[in-house]
Amino acid sequence: MKNAIIGYGGHAREVLSQMGKKLPCFVDDNYVSEETLPLSSLDVKKYKVMVAIANPIYRLNVVNNLPKETKFFSFVHPTALILDKNIKIGKGSFIGAFSVLTTNIKIGNHAILNRSNHIGHDTIVGDYFSSMPGSIISGNCNIGDSVYLGTNSSVREKITICDNVTVGLNSGVVKNINKSGTYAGLPAKKIN
Ligand SMILES: CC(C)(COP(=O)(O)OP(=O)(O)OC[C@H]1O[C@@H](n2cnc3c(N)ncnc32)[C@H](O)[C@@H]1OP(=O)(O)O)[C@@H](O)C(=O)NCCC(=O)NCCS
Repeated sequence: MKNAIIGYGGHAREVLSQMGKKLPCFVDDNYVSEETLPLSSLDVKKYKVMVAIANPIYRLNVVNNLPKETKFFSFVHPTALILDKNIKIGKGSFIGAFSVLTTNIKIGNHAILNRSNHIGHDTIVGDYFSSMPGSIISGNCNIGDSVYLGTNSSVREKITICDNVTVGLNSGVVKNINKSGTYAGLPAKKIN
């Protein structure tokens, strides 16, 4: 089977640039251009896919609408440091350049570690994780599904974050987050 990308927005094109190759890119039929192919024409017997859409909820929706038999591929950039054998990375995930995963870490399916993302020891991350450039999770954390960490944000050690949380850029999470929503600032507080 060959590999293909779903998406052709900024993140998808960054994924291609980090992979250093041009893969077929399938997009919503309404947005097809000369560079892309209609999603309705995707043959899941021919292609394994990665959904390269930065927003976790959009990514989840696309995955949920793919045929059940769809196969996904993951990619780890050659400069990323996966420092131990006891690190698990789920299907359809992207581990970008200069990311560092230390030891005893589990990352769910369809994760995006954009570039220069660090995850510390004994941390569990759910499905549909999105971490923007430079965001860092300390050790012993438990991160839910569909969590988005903005650029340069950080999470203190031993923190739990529930599902469906967005953390703003340059923000710092120092207390557990038990309610879905958007958090920003240092210390990160719920906004809107
Ligand atoms: C947190 C975030 C999601 C909020 O976006 P939003 O819901 O559109 O909210 P707004 O921009 O309307 O801001 C709401 C309030 O929060 C403040 N705010 C927004 N982001 C903030 C941040 N990162 N840190 C501190 N305060 C922030 C705004 O100043 C505003 O305050 P005000 O009500 O006093 O004027 C967004 O600002 C953010 O940080 N996104 C991440 C961006 C990123 O990392 N991109 C990566 C691209 S590769």
